[in-house]
Parts: sequence; structure tokens; C-alpha cells
Amino acid sequence: MVIFGASGDLTKRKLLPALYALACRRLLPEQFGLVGVARTEESDEDFRERMKEAVKAHARDEFRDEVWESLARGMSYVSTDFADESGEDLVLERLRALDRDRGTKGNRVYYLAVPPSAISTLVREIGERRETEGWTRLVVEKPFGHDLTSARELNTQLREHFTEDEVFRIDHYLGKETVQNLMALRFANGIFEPVWNRQFIDHVQITVAESIGIESRADFYEQSGAIRDIFQNHLLQLVALTAMEPPIDFTADSVRNEKVKVLRSLHTPGPKSVVRGQYGRGWIEGKEVPGYREEEGVSSESLTETYVAAKLYVDNWRWADTPFYVRTGKRLPRRETTISIQFQRAPHPPFEDIASEGLRPNVLVVHIQPDEGVSLEIGAKVPGQGMTIRSVHMDFLYGGAFRTGLPEAYERLILDAMLGDATLFTRTDEVEEQWALVDAIAAAWKRDRASFPNYAAGTPGPAAADELLARDSRSWRR
Ligand code: BG6
Repeated sequence: MVIFGASGDLTKRKLLPALYALACRRLLPEQFGLVGVARTEESDEDFRERMKEAVKAHARDEFRDEVWESLARGMSYVSTDFADESGEDLVLERLRALDRDRGTKGNRVYYLAVPPSAISTLVREIGERRETEGWTRLVVEKPFGHDLTSARELNTQLREHFTEDEVFRIDHYLGKETVQNLMALRFANGIFEPVWNRQFIDHVQITVAESIGIESRADFYEQSGAIRDIFQNHLLQLVALTAMEPPIDFTADSVRNEKVKVLRSLHTPGPKSVVRGQYGRGWIEGKEVPGYREEEGVSSESLTETYVAAKLYVDNWRWADTPFYVRTGKRLPRRETTISIQFQRAPHPPFEDIASEGLRPNVLVVHIQPDEGVSLEIGAKVPGQGMTIRSVHMDFLYGGAFRTGLPEAYERLILDAMLGDATLFTRTDEVEEQWALVDAIAAAWKRDRASFPNYAAGTPGPAAADELLARDSRSWRR
């Protein structure tokens, strides 16, 4: 495996810890070798040492010398500018040495954890140096382009050198256990399918909330904002998985065929159905935090959104007229990703008015993170005289049901890329559909200047997001 962008945060926090977790479970082949590539000058030894510290700090498993040594033995580092062709030759030399010394047989996974501006050069350089022996897989980190035009250009470039089944576009949400469990919940249980439609479901709410700010990523975030950072990929993928038809099997194409149909059916929301926000100064967990415009590297007049909420419609027979309310934001009160399926009210509760006040619609909540699990809200009789109803929860918690820790998304994704299984990666057409929707929203925003900041850090988002649901006599789940 070659990681381009080896001095970056992702390599340190996610990729190396994931490789270490795979090594701990003996899921990496013994011959496995890793070449880190980045601009920073560094010796092989220093690279290994830095990665060792990263594993110690971020891995979910206890640090074991023998596991680390077996991984480190195959690790080396190439320092080069991505635009420099000769650097690519150095990488190739390393790979040939690995083939010779470790018997890697020309099989390569190239992991592009680099800024978007570096991707097309790398795709060309790697493509031009393809060798005939062994297989090649190219893992491309998000953001995949900046809009539909750039994503298409990138897809065209990729096609010049690679086939679609060699390209693995990462959306790390798809690697999360709880996201995959959404498919298990829907398609391994008989009771949900008959009610999973407009006749029984009143609406769906999907929330990807974070309490963190933009950390040290101002450059990136100023260009992307919440709509490109999370809405375009993670949120729309959650919509697709919630709304898709049952695939005929769990192969990459069957699953992705069904997801792309949902993305294609998404109705472009009008300006009144989309809300954007930007956080001002506020308090998170007892600490005062700066507003977005005060973050280092952010313009004091920035119009970048850190929050988006939208009402989406999936225009097909299953979902017509059933709103999907989605929202994502930074500096919200707590980190929480959930999918809530709110069913319609019981048609005629035969209890007296007063007793049925507590009678609320059933809600199935998929807790993606934290407190991973699924809960169903049902009405139950409060013990005692009379017939008073209250809402209670039936809970499935991962922690209680399975006594093993949950793997990190990147463990699953890296392993799948090595095995050549693209089921949990996004296909060309999915990415393009996602961009088409985002482009339409972004174009409307350009015409209409935002008034920011419009929510304080530590609060649940702009008032307009509440109004979006209030207009439909609904409210966000708190
Ligand atoms: C990334 C975004 O894709 O997802 C980040 O670029 C965000 O801004 C992160 O913080 C959230 O991922 P997770 O797994 O912590 O929910």
C-alpha cells in the first residue's frame, strides 16, 4: 500500500491505527508492505517512529511490540512533491523492491489522502506507471471534486487509467458498523419492510451534529462549508441507505444501483426548503469558544456556512410526499448522528382525551453515534389507576448486545479495498448525483446573501431551521 499524504492528519489519526488494528487481528497478509509518501523530509526510521507514536496515541487496541514490529518491517518513506515526476519513479522503485523482498507480486493499493488539487497529477503519474503484473486499486479520499463539473473531470481522468472497479471513492460513513447495520435492520428483518413507506411513515429526520469546530482546517473549510464537507456525502448517503429499495444481493453493483436511484429521485429543494447557518461565539461544555469568523485562517466576513438543514423529497412510489428533514452543523451542543423514522399517529386511540396526551407517534431511532444502537419509542400504560399513556423506549445497545468493541470505519474500508470489494464505496454516478443536488443549492445561495452569524456555538442551530419544520407543524427531535 502506498499512502500519498503520509504526513497528514488522516494518516496519523485513522489510517495507521486502522492498519495496526488489522494487523492485530491477523487480517493483513504477511507480505504486506507500506510506503508513505509526502513532501516533508523524513528518513524511513523517523517515519516509522512517528507512525508508532500515532498508533500508540490513536489505536483502539493495546500497543503490542511484536504486532508493531511485524508491520514496521515492511514500512518505508519517500519524500517528494506530488507534482514531481521523479518522485513517482522513486515510489515505483520502492514497490519493486517490496515485490522482490516480500513477494507482493505487483499488487498495489494506492491511497490518495491528499488535497483535491494534487489528485489529478497523481492519478496520471500512477496510471502512466502501471505495470502488467498484479492488481491495482486506487482509494480516493473525499472531497471528490468541488462541484459536478470538477467531479466529472476527475472521473474522466480516472477512467483514462483505471476501470471503475479499481477505483474506491471513500465516504467513511459507509464503513461505520452502525451505518451497515441500517441495511441489516431493514433487510434482515421481516417486520420493517411492510411499513417502510409513505403509508406508514410520517417523515424522516437525519441529524449529523458535531460539537467540534473546524479545528485547524480553515483553508479547507472556507472552500467547502458544511454543504460540501458533510451534506454532499455523509448526509446524502444516509438518505440513500434509508430510502433505497432492497437490493437483490449484497454485491457492489446491486447495492449501488439501488442507492443511485434514490439520489436520482431527490427533488431539488427550493430556497425556502434549505437553511444555512454559521456559528458565532458561544459556550460548549462549559468552555467559551470563538465564532467561526474568529477562527484562525477564516475571513472576518466569511460567508461560509457551518450548518445546513433541508427538507428533501424522494420522488418515487415508496416515498412521494414524505419529507426527509436533514441537518448537519459544527459547534452544536453535542456530537450525535441519528436517523429517526417517525411513524404516523395511531389512527384512533380509544382512550379519553386526557389519558392520551402522552400518546406520541412511534419513532424508530438508529443511533449511528455515539451510544450506538437502535431504539423504538412506543406508548405504554403508566402503572396505576386509569389509562395514562407515556412514551417509553425499547433499546438495543451495541455495547450490551455484543461484547466486542466496534471497529473503526477505516479498518473495514481499507480491508475491503484490498479485497477488491467496492460495496461500501461510492460509484461515479452516485457522486455525480450528489454534486448535482449540491450545485443547485449552492447556485441559489449565490443569488441570496446570507446574514451570518445566525446561531451561537453550543445552541442547536439557526431559528430558521426550527421554522422549516414548524411550517409543517413538526419539530426537530431534541
Ligand atoms: C469528515 C469531515 O468527513 O467527517 C469532518 O470532513 C467531520 O469535518 C468528520 O468532522 C466527521 O466524522 P465522524 O466519523 O467523526 O462523524
